[in-house]
Amino acid sequence: MEKKQELYRGKAKSVYETDDADHYIMLYRDDTSAFDGKVIKQLDRKGKTNNHFNFFIMKKLEEAGIPVHVEKMLNDTECLVKKLEMVPVECVVRNFCAGSICRRLGVEEGLELKQPTFEFFLKNDELHDPMVNDSHIISFGWGTQEQIDKMKELSFKINEVLKALFDKAGLLLVDYKLEFGLYHGQLMLGDEFSPDGCRLWDKETRKKLDKDRFRQGLGGVIEAYEEVARRIGCPLD
Ligand code: TMP
Repeated sequence: MEKKQELYRGKAKSVYETDDADHYIMLYRDDTSAFDGKVIKQLDRKGKTNNHFNFFIMKKLEEAGIPVHVEKMLNDTECLVKKLEMVPVECVVRNFCAGSICRRLGVEEGLELKQPTFEFFLKNDELHDPMVNDSHIISFGWGTQEQIDKMKELSFKINEVLKALFDKAGLLLVDYKLEFGLYHGQLMLGDEFSPDGCRLWDKETRKKLDKDRFRQGLGGVIEAYEEVARRIGCPLD
């Protein structure tokens, strides 16, 4: 498949058109952003690590019956994906409290939730991704009730699959963000799943092994991503 012009440049990935109307090429760059793009830094091996990580996780999800956009890894930093029409919201599932929920509700980091929560955020950096609800999504025409129900159902199913996968590696899946889109009308998982968009802690020590290391200036960011990959059996080349 031939790579054509860059269609969209996100904070960490670029999307290219191909000579096939149904497919895009996703390029994982070394750029690492935090605080809605206010801080951006290049981290060695980041693009490669996240491309391999995402491919491994997406294939596990596909095996578990989740429809995903990933088709094929092309090289260390590029992946062939189905062309989705994205729903402009982010779906966040939490098993433990960390990040924005602690600030919003005044709860302690590390509190285990009695059951997972589900939250929608509007994808809009300038507005700092405000939280929205089902009614906003329908009223503004960002998605239908049926799509909302499907996003929630798939997000919770993904939680069961990934909690088990990380648990076996001695890791707690604290929270994560997913983005969905439509492929010829069918809702499927798009974007990426990597330590950039989730929180993972060591089960015993609660050491942070995700992008909070970057946000909080803890160092060893990519080394932590690589450790997670090694522990779950994800090859990095
Ligand atoms: P939060 O604590 O900032 O609401 O984030 C919850 C999880 O979702 C955390 O793992 C980071 C991820 N996330 C993103 O990757 N990008 C985003 O824009 C948002 C809102 C969350």
